[in-house]
Amino acid sequence: MKLAVLVSGSGSNLQSIIDHVEAGHIAAEIAVVFSNKEDAYGLTRARNHGIPTAVIQHTEFTDREAFDAAMVRALQEHGADTVALAGFMRMLTPVFLNAFPMRVLNIHPALLPSFPGTHGQHDAATFGVRLAGCTVHFVDEKMDHGPVVIQAALPVTPGIAGDDLAGQILRLEHRVYPQALAWMAQDRIRLDGRIVHIEGSGVPVCDTDGVGPYLVNPPLEDDFAA
Ligand code: GAR
Repeated sequence: MKLAVLVSGSGSNLQSIIDHVEAGHIAAEIAVVFSNKEDAYGLTRARNHGIPTAVIQHTEFTDREAFDAAMVRALQEHGADTVALAGFMRMLTPVFLNAFPMRVLNIHPALLPSFPGTHGQHDAATFGVRLAGCTVHFVDEKMDHGPVVIQAALPVTPGIAGDDLAGQILRLEHRVYPQALAWMAQDRIRLDGRIVHIEGSGVPVCDTDGVGPYLVNPPLEDDFAA
């Protein structure tokens, strides 16, 4: 698999992907790291690992389609066949998606379909949810919408600051995104409409009541736990 990773900012997810590729956990080569912002720190991370970079600023284009066409050309010049959005804060049009059909993944810092958008963790904290998390999904034309590959959930401390929750979620992101990309590289992901099947993935073990494993917050007290 020849992967393009698209970043707009810090690129900590990119770093996690790089580390897992270098460790041999993902059967992929990172063909290029692309950004729409020339000062994105993710570009520095790529250069530190000798990974090619490309920058095209979306502000130079009057319409999304023209920007997407330029991105496609840049990624294809580097031989990319799969795309991972890692904090890439641009919506993609069919011009882009049709060039990489069902080969574009995104990570979002919320349990979709709750809290799409640019502040998923903060929106979840403000809403007062008891469980939060992150989602890796296929990208379609709608924001944070395509078929779900993997989700990770964590309990939320009531009143936690949005930034603190974001930090906890980010550490989960760094685990689930490389896992999803490893499955992609192994060609183990099958789609049935919106439903994603991972060939050979573990099956959660159910207890004798047929319920579980599950995450509940606050914890159930004894009378209700079984
Ligand atoms: C991550 O939390 C990612 O889930 C989020 O941007 C952050 C990028 O961090 N993406 C979205 O909100 C997409 N809707 P990073 O640059 O350190 O990887």
